[in-house]
Amino acid sequence: MTCVVSYCLCVWLILLPVKASAMNEDIDVLVILPKNNSYLFSISMVAPAIEYAKQRMKSLKGMYSGLNFNVHYENSNCGDEALFSLVDRSCEKKPDLILGPVCEYAAAPVVRMASHWNIPVISAGALASGFSHKKEYSHLTRVAPSYLKMAETFSAMFRRFSWKNAFLIYEDDMDERNCYFTLEGVHSVLKTDNVHIDALNIHSKDNRVDSDEIIKNIHDSEVIIMCAAADIIRDIMLAAHRRRLTNGSYIFFNIELFNSSSYGNGSWKRGDKYDMDAKQAYATLNTLTLLRTVKPEFENFSVEVKKSIQKVGMRHHDSDNVNIFVEGFHDALLLYAMALLEVMKNGSNKTDGVQITQHMWNRTFEGIAGPVSIDFNGDRYGDFSVMAMMDHEEGTYEAVINYFGINGSFQMLPRFNNDRFTLTHRHQTAPTDYASKSSGGLGVSAVTGIIVGALLGTALLMAFYFFRKNYRVTIERRSPRDCGIGKHRQLREDSIRSSFSTA
Ligand SMILES: *[C@@H]1O[C@H](CO)[C@@H](O)[C@H](O)[C@H]1NC(C)=O
Ligand SMILES: *[C@@H]1O[C@H](CO)[C@@H](O)[C@H](O)[C@H]1NC(C)=O
Ligand SMILES: *[C@@H]1O[C@H](CO)[C@@H](O)[C@H](O)[C@H]1NC(C)=O
Ligand SMILES: *[C@@H]1O[C@H](CO)[C@@H](O)[C@H](O)[C@H]1NC(C)=O
Ligand SMILES: *[C@@H]1O[C@H](CO)[C@@H](O)[C@H](O)[C@H]1NC(C)=O
Ligand SMILES: *[C@@H]1O[C@H](CO)[C@@H](O)[C@H](O)[C@H]1NC(C)=O
Ligand SMILES: *[C@@H]1O[C@H](CO)[C@@H](O)[C@H](O)[C@H]1NC(C)=O
Ligand SMILES: *[C@@H]1O[C@H](CO)[C@@H](O)[C@H](O)[C@H]1NC(C)=O
Ligand SMILES: *[C@@H]1O[C@H](CO)[C@@H](O)[C@H](O)[C@H]1NC(C)=O
Repeated sequence: MTCVVSYCLCVWLILLPVKASAMNEDIDVLVILPKNNSYLFSISMVAPAIEYAKQRMKSLKGMYSGLNFNVHYENSNCGDEALFSLVDRSCEKKPDLILGPVCEYAAAPVVRMASHWNIPVISAGALASGFSHKKEYSHLTRVAPSYLKMAETFSAMFRRFSWKNAFLIYEDDMDERNCYFTLEGVHSVLKTDNVHIDALNIHSKDNRVDSDEIIKNIHDSEVIIMCAAADIIRDIMLAAHRRRLTNGSYIFFNIELFNSSSYGNGSWKRGDKYDMDAKQAYATLNTLTLLRTVKPEFENFSVEVKKSIQKVGMRHHDSDNVNIFVEGFHDALLLYAMALLEVMKNGSNKTDGVQITQHMWNRTFEGIAGPVSIDFNGDRYGDFSVMAMMDHEEGTYEAVINYFGINGSFQMLPRFNNDRFTLTHRHQTAPTDYASKSSGGLGVSAVTGIIVGALLGTALLMAFYFFRKNYRVTIERRSPRDCGIGKHRQLREDSIRSSFSTA
């Protein structure tokens, strides 16, 4: 059935009248994203942006008119299916460009395979630190700021406000592990700055999270950086408030990069008896989020994308901007088109994945929401904001600090107050205390059912293995029969070299 449909589609595409143009290039684009609409980057969310980019390029007379993008969407959940989709599809014909995957464990094998096949991959995800190793992920370009770029914001704040130590609290679902990868970035950047770091890992599969136990561990730290579900953050802040730790002797951060409806105004509110306490506690909570720019074209884009999303029956928070994944995949297609045109001018063509990728790196271009700068390693520079509660009556949030990744500079906004970020009130403990005390604290919490991660250092090492080693894949079983035997061997060798053991 699907074969017939895609066959018809192909015939139809071939028979389409082609505009007379100096050059004509058909580009097969494979988009590998989850179908499940509980993801911010599901196919239904991202497809309208990609279609918008196609339309927009068509309307820019001349420049891109010779490029015909044939876009295919493949469902990847957040794991193996992504690789299977790529391999199954590529038996007939390999795509010229891959957009996605976003989830780390889906992206790792896909990008490695694509790099091996010399196919450029552009993703608004794959944000984990491991993907910065562009020897292994040579064809990957990231159009959304990675967790390492985010972590530079913390690094810059630690220097500016002379903070000395950090306590990282992260929720780990042992599945997609978004918070784990988020704080892995923070850990690896702060570590090189010689910040003393302790870390605590909350297993979200545990039914109860004992926030009082968690809070006992932070005693010697100055800056608490958290990544967890909104309800866990609230529990921890309430526990901190009960122990009177929210009076300015500690600095609290949570990281909420993508889902703008879960941070800011009213995020403390649940309609239960703790609301008043939570509001007071949140007065000391700073939220780090992406700084999104908006220009007139973006309004139109945003409206059109939302319309398409609603057309397929999905609900979209009206107040929200279109998220960074949707924006990123729009810009991804644009960036590829620019690079391809340059490569073609140079006498090469779409099969030269290395050169196309090189042309996408180390450049700034005008994206749909503003300038997008890709560094010389193929990763986008990011801008971030620190939000804080400025109206304690209303409990509303405002941005107080902006950080620009491209030049590493801060912009202090009108409501910024230096006292909020200064640790003048607290008694200073000698740094030598930390090692012995924190390990004692960790022992206690392990007993009470909170599973305490070793320092992220060990975790980092593991993450490295996750990326080096890949899922053990039995390709033969999954591939259609018409796969060439040569390709078979290639795939098998590739997956054996990187066989994955689940931890
Ligand atoms: C979509 O994902 C959510 C959360 O991961 C899960 O609970 C749900 O069952 C999934 N839906 C489908 C149709 O797979
Ligand atoms: C905040 O509370 C802690 C512990 O109760 C106390 O040591 C510290 O002096 C207080 N700081 C301020 C600014 O009140
Ligand atoms: C975004 O945040 C809201 C409010 O906390 C939550 O209901 C929703 O599930 C979140 N969406 C995603 C995709 O995480
Ligand atoms: C919170 O509310 C205030 C006042 O209504 C508004 O100015 C501000 O933009 C809002 N902030 C967020 C993050 O929604
Ligand atoms: C967006 O721009 C297109 C073309 O310029 C126009 O047709 C469309 O009406 C605009 N949409 C909105 C919501 O302004
Ligand atoms: C053009 O192609 C050649 C050979 O592939 C390469 O060495 C050169 O750097 C390219 N020029 C530009 C401007 O990319
Ligand atoms: C693309 O370029 C390669 C070498 O760079 C060449 O072998 C191939 O024939 C070209 N393909 C097309 C369709 O021009
Ligand atoms: C990046 O581009 C600039 C000019 O735009 C150039 O001077 C610099 O050498 C490039 N860096 C790398 C690493 O290619
Ligand atoms: C850093 O970059 C931002 C955004 O491009 C710009 O607004 C700001 O003025 C720059 N700051 C410095 C010190 O160059």
